[in-house]
Parts: sequence; structure tokens; C-alpha cells
Amino acid sequence: MPTYSHAVLDEIRSRIDLVDIVSQFVSLKKTGQNWKGLCPFHTERTPSFMVNPAKGIFHCFGCGVGGDAFGFLMRQDRLSFPEAVRALAQRAAVELPEERGREGDRDREDLHRAMQLGLEFYTEKLWAPGGERARTYLDTRGVAPEVARRFSLGYAPEGWDALLSFMKARGVAAELLEKAGLVLPRQGGGGFYDRFRGRLLFAIKDVQGRVVAFGGRAFGDEPPKYLNSPETPLYSKGHTLYSIDLAREHIRAKDRALLVEGYLDCLMAHQHGFTETVAALGTAFTAAQLQMLRRYCGEVVTFFDADAAGQKAAERAEELLEPSADGTAWAVSRSGSFGDGTALRIRVALLPAGHDPDTLLRAEGPAAFEACIAASRSLLSYALDRALAETRDPSGPRGRASAFARVALMLSKVSSAEEALALSREAALKLGVDATQLWIEAQRLQSARARPVGPPPPAAAPATMALAERELLCLLLHVAESRPLLLPLVDDGDLVHPALRVILAGLRLRPDAAPATLMSDLPDDPERSVLAALLLHERDWSDAPTVIAQYRNRFELKRRLRRIREVTRAIAEGQAAGAASPPAFEAELLALQREGERARGLTLGVSAQPEKSDRPSGPEGVHTNG
Ligand code: UTP
Ligand code: MN
Repeated sequence: MPTYSHAVLDEIRSRIDLVDIVSQFVSLKKTGQNWKGLCPFHTERTPSFMVNPAKGIFHCFGCGVGGDAFGFLMRQDRLSFPEAVRALAQRAAVELPEERGREGDRDREDLHRAMQLGLEFYTEKLWAPGGERARTYLDTRGVAPEVARRFSLGYAPEGWDALLSFMKARGVAAELLEKAGLVLPRQGGGGFYDRFRGRLLFAIKDVQGRVVAFGGRAFGDEPPKYLNSPETPLYSKGHTLYSIDLAREHIRAKDRALLVEGYLDCLMAHQHGFTETVAALGTAFTAAQLQMLRRYCGEVVTFFDADAAGQKAAERAEELLEPSADGTAWAVSRSGSFGDGTALRIRVALLPAGHDPDTLLRAEGPAAFEACIAASRSLLSYALDRALAETRDPSGPRGRASAFARVALMLSKVSSAEEALALSREAALKLGVDATQLWIEAQRLQSARARPVGPPPPAAAPATMALAERELLCLLLHVAESRPLLLPLVDDGDLVHPALRVILAGLRLRPDAAPATLMSDLPDDPERSVLAALLLHERDWSDAPTVIAQYRNRFELKRRLRRIREVTRAIAEGQAAGAASPPAFEAELLALQREGERARGLTLGVSAQPEKSDRPSGPEGVHTNG
């Protein structure tokens, strides 16, 4: 990890204008010394985000985040500190001196050289005359020689010092090999012995294709089945994905990654054409591994044995939904500014009971595997089923209320708008409540959680909060019929996201325009990129009439509540002044209440639960919150 001197950081800071940088993401207005805008890191209606260009700092009085230009970019673009420094150095045309820790670098270079030499030794042994046993094993496992070579499979010969003596002859110190995890110190006396003996070796490489570790498969039943390299300066298990070097470009091209558990699963998937496959090096994938994949694609398919699927998927979902310290969990988002499609979608594919990808591919071929992938479902959807399954008597009012609360809690942690939307629809259907209800409850839970503890998890807040309004804009843009029905009802104040308000204004001006032509009506880059994101958003609109009807109901309800408040206040004021309330007001109030009851009757008709007392806050919440 490079370190930069204060001098160079100051130099960069002095050459850039923080207002310039922040303005790319937030629209700022000058107020005295400061510039003010809506905080990009949490959702708010009134600006509490300040930038002071003279000091080169920003601060949000709402959520408490603050920092300098580097901190802003790290948060906004999910950059590491060195990445932010490099980005800004480039912008400021400051040349970065090569001041990395020289010593550390030399150590790593030595380790890399040792590992590379080890790889050459082991691969050579696999194809050499002594390697029959390993080659026969590959044959029985159905691994094509060509694939074995592509993956740099190797063979660690029997004996205690095959590698050691090879290395000794090349002047590589045993202490270095120990650091690389290739040899172990002998008990008692001095000296070392080879870690890998009599095993088939899988070379684990980093993104750049440099070998950083090995996994060694026993040929028979002798434990352990797999013997792996320890963690070393080059290798951290949770931050590495097996075969990422080979799969990377395919993952990018296909915009999806297949994430399997085992080395052989991965190998066989590649052999059968699924070249976008990587393996997590243990039982459960980590947030860091997901973040790595997020750099290349938007969707990851994981595989579970049908037997254990529900349980495992729910566990993973719950873990991933807990925001981690570095904010990488679940919402592996590249930009905190607009939560559209930036989070990684995780899907679960069910393998027939008793199969792993390797055995399925060998037994039934790629078509069966592809069918599993095609039938995959969102990880959250599984978790949802689990939540519902654990609810006693989910069709009763009490059960429904608790399932509602549980799903809302889950939803409140989902930062991918797309996922949250799909999940709320599904849950609403299964629970017999209105989907918007779930959002409202989820948002309430989320803001309740975000308030007391400083900054909210950066990606989570804006995304979930923008959910409903984002969907509305999508609807207006993609479904032309919705415009005459909804535009007159939408209040600009209903939208929090500034870019969305601008787009809405554009739609009002030219409701008949093809959405893409609105691009040139928009003032700035941020609005245009938001519009682009909305236009690119793919969604099946076959349920548009229902969605339109739901929005109409919501807006009608809001209008009614507003009017009821106005009329009630007018009546009260009149009474306070000693006047009798005008009969017109009384009549209107009555009419409004009747209208409300009719609408309520319609909503409740769907959910067929007559008892009033025990109903989940669902169908009723809308009347108080919406
Ligand atoms: P599995 O036990 O499912 O093995 O472990 P597998 O991949 O199906 O292996 P085969 O088909 O029996 O050869 C899945 C993964 O967990 C790790 C390995 O990465 C393995 O591929 N593992 C498993 C270990 O690291 N050590 C072990 O002892 C077992
Ligand atoms: Mn297996």
C-alpha cells in the first residue's frame, strides 16, 4: 500500500477546487463563504451539506459525514485512499513521487518469485514421467488435459523435500519458502519440509494472474481432502477468488459471474463453456469477494444444493444485509449518489439434491446446468420465503403482522432499489398487503436506524429512500399512457431527488416527447446521467395498469387528506371566531370522508381480513403515512 507525504497531499489539495468536484454530484448554491446542497450520503429535503472551498472541506450537518476532497471521492466513488489520491493527482496534474515502502515491495517481489518458481516446479511434475498418478486422477475426474494446462494444475510429488531441494539448487532460501507457505519448519530440530506432498495442486492466482497460493487435493480418502496454503502476505483467502484471472474478461463480457464452492466445480464449469465461473475459497463467499466481482459485472449466481438451499440462502442474505464496517456488504455500490442498479444482484441457483456443479455437469451436461441458472431466483427472494415459512399461521392477522414487520425490516436494509422493489412486490403478493406499505414501513425503519448513529451506511440510505420516486419516474418515462393520468396528480414536492425533479419538469413541458429526446432539455450532466439510468432501466411493464392505479390511489389519498386538513382547519377557525361553520364545508368534509371510506373498502377487499384490531399495519398504514 503506497503512502503519500503530507507535502504531496497538500500540493494536490491546493490545486483542486472542492466545489468543482462536489458539484459533479451535488448541486450547490453559494451562501456566504460556503456552498450548500442536499447531502449525497443521506436523503434529505432541506440542504444541510456544506462545502467550504477555502478550507477544502465538506460537512453534512444532517448525517455528520465530512472530510476533504480525498474523503469525498472515497465515499462518493467507493475508492480506496490511494485510488482517490491517484484520481485527484491526475486531475490536479501533480506527479506522484514513487515513495512506496521500498522494503515491503522487495519482500513481496521475492515472495512472488518464489511462488512462480514453485508453480513451474509443480506443473512440470504433473506432465513429467513421475506424474502418472496425478494424470490418472485427472482422467477419472474427467478433466481435459487442455483445461488442466490452462489452469496450471500441478503435482506435488511424494517425499519430504522435493520442492526444497529444487529451490535450494536455485538459491532460494528456505525461510522465504516458509513465508510463502510452501514449506514448514521441522519439529524440534532445525530444517524444513515440503507442505504439499503427494497431491494434485490447484494454483490460486490473483487478478493479474500471479500465483499466490495452492490448494492440494488428496488422491484418495486420506484427510484432509484439500490442503491449502496458509494466509501469507500475498494471499488472503476471503479477498481472493479462484480463477478470477481467467474468468475476469468473460464475466465482464457476459455481465454475470457464476460463483461456485470448489476448485473442481470451477474447472468443470470452464471446461463446459461457463468461462465466467470463479470459486470462493471456503464454504461461504465474503463481501470482499462480492465487491471484487462488482467491478466486472452486475449479477452473481451462487449455487446451493436443493436440500439446504432455503436455510443457507437465508443465512447468507441476513449476513450480507448487515452493513459491514467498510460499507461493502451487500450494497456493493459504486456510487452513493443514486442507487440505481449499482448494487450487485445475487441470485441463487438450486442444484438437484446431492449434486455440486461438477457432478451435475458430468452427469447431465451443460444444458442441465444452464437450466439451473435460468431458474435461479434472487437471494432475497429465498430469504423472504424463509421469513414467511418461519411465521406461524401466516394467513392469520397476527402471523401476517409479524411477517409484515420482518419483511419490512429486511427491506429496510436492501440498498439495491431493483431488489427492494422486486422483493416488496413479491412479499406484498404473498402477504396480501399493498407493496407501497412495505416501502413506507421500511423507510420508517431505515430512517429510525440512521438517525441516532452518525452517518448511515453510505450506499444504503439514498438508494432505498429514492425507491418509490424512482419507480414513479420510470413508469412515467417508459409507459406513455401513465403521463396524462399521473402528471396532474404528482406534486413536485413529492420528489426528493433533485435530478428527478428536473426530469419531472421536463416531462411536464413535453409530455408527448420520446423520453430519450428529453436528454437535450436537461441542464446538466447529473440530470442527464440519472435520466440515462432511468431509461436504461429494464423492467417488464405488463403490470403497468395496476401500478398506475396504485399511484392514482396514493395521490388521490394525499389530495383528500390535504383537503380534509384544510377544511377542518377552516371550520375550526370559524368556530373559534364564533361563526357557525359554513354548510358547504360540512358537506365537503362529509363527502371527503365517504370517498375515503369507499377507497378503503376497495383496498381492504383485496386482503379479505375482516378483523380490524389485529391487522398488520399494512393496509391501514397508507392512510396515515401515505
Ligand atoms: P467440498 O468438500 O464440497 O469438495 O469442498 P469438492 O470441491 O466437491 O471437491 P471434490 O469434488 O470432492 O474433489 C468445497 C471446497 O471447499 C474447500 C475447497 O476449496 C473445496 O473445493 N475445502 C474443502 C477445503 O479447503 N478443505 C477441505 O478439506 C475441504
Ligand atoms: Mn465435488
